[in-house]
Amino acid sequence: MKITDTVKYIGVNDKKIDLFEGQYVVPNGMAYNSYVIIDEKIAVMDTVDISFTEEWLDNLEKALDGRKPDYLVVQHMEPDHSANIDNFLKEYPEATVVSSKIAFQMMNQFFGTDYADRRIVVAEGDTLDLGSRKLTFYTAPMVHWPEVIVTYDDKEKILFSADGFGKFGTLDADEDWACEARRYYFGIVGKYGVQTQALLKKAATLDIEKICPLHGPILTENLGYYLDLYNTWSSYGVESEGVVIAYTSVYGNTKKAVEILAEKLKAAGCPKVAVNDLARCDMAEAVEDAFRYGKIVLATTTYNSDIFPFMRTFIDALTERGYRNRKIAFIENGSWAPTATNVMKKMLEKSKNLEFTENNITIKSAVNEATIEQIEALAKELCE
Ligand code: FEO
Repeated sequence: MKITDTVKYIGVNDKKIDLFEGQYVVPNGMAYNSYVIIDEKIAVMDTVDISFTEEWLDNLEKALDGRKPDYLVVQHMEPDHSANIDNFLKEYPEATVVSSKIAFQMMNQFFGTDYADRRIVVAEGDTLDLGSRKLTFYTAPMVHWPEVIVTYDDKEKILFSADGFGKFGTLDADEDWACEARRYYFGIVGKYGVQTQALLKKAATLDIEKICPLHGPILTENLGYYLDLYNTWSSYGVESEGVVIAYTSVYGNTKKAVEILAEKLKAAGCPKVAVNDLARCDMAEAVEDAFRYGKIVLATTTYNSDIFPFMRTFIDALTERGYRNRKIAFIENGSWAPTATNVMKKMLEKSKNLEFTENNITIKSAVNEATIEQIEALAKELCE
């Protein structure tokens, strides 16, 4: 696949993967992107997952059209991109590896060598001359590992953005970009909002016409849309108006309260109500929703003097990603000593800039008339 006359796509689509990075369901698979820049010198941008060695080397050979690569630029050492470094270097013994100092330390860990006799170590702002263009490298630590660099091609005005602007799904998946890019961002990079902001600041100094990430489609039009979303996500801003309700329910009583609240919110004109049953939904979807909307209701039962396990996992997923800047309401249920709200509040006490609603709900076993009045008051407060 041609991206420009001199930049070709040589990545692969993984349609067999069950869990990306060992935990994320990817119903439409995953793409491991890799590129070749053809100039007086030839640079290959990253490798692919170990399951695709032959397919990738074949793609590369075809793109090279009889020539040999001069450089392998390694932007990120996570194995979905780095697994074939050694295979590449055996296939092309005259090529030089270009990467960051930390990446070479990781190569030593992964492959038992840091390629000291055939490498160029690059740091912030360093360049590599390919003939008619120059590649400039920018460090992007923790987007999403510490060794990451991104690369700017000044001839084609392409930013090779490593995991940044990545997305779940193969390149031929027919699906909305933002939905799976958001789930990817908050699942994988979400903890590192500050570092992503730093990368966006560097990108803002460049004249970019195309973004070539390591996952998901090459972005060629309307780049402001993608940059704006990344700015909102990495600054923990509210992307969409609405309320998320995340709940667990053992016998359906907490669920009933949630359903009534959802109806009341919709009736009150709330633009969007997203409801997630944490025991049954994809947890990464629920996390994505929590960061997308500005208001969230957490509803769960008291369980073993704590809270129901799926809710604990969910709140941990939020706090470890720096959850902040949100309005939060609680619904607790307990038949003899309901304490779930206190437990949930305590789990969130280190999170920045959270506002708790005045109306919170305690259910003693089942929803009754008093509960419905409380739900009405909460719906009103959340819609204000
Ligand atoms: Fe796509 Fe962080 O690896």
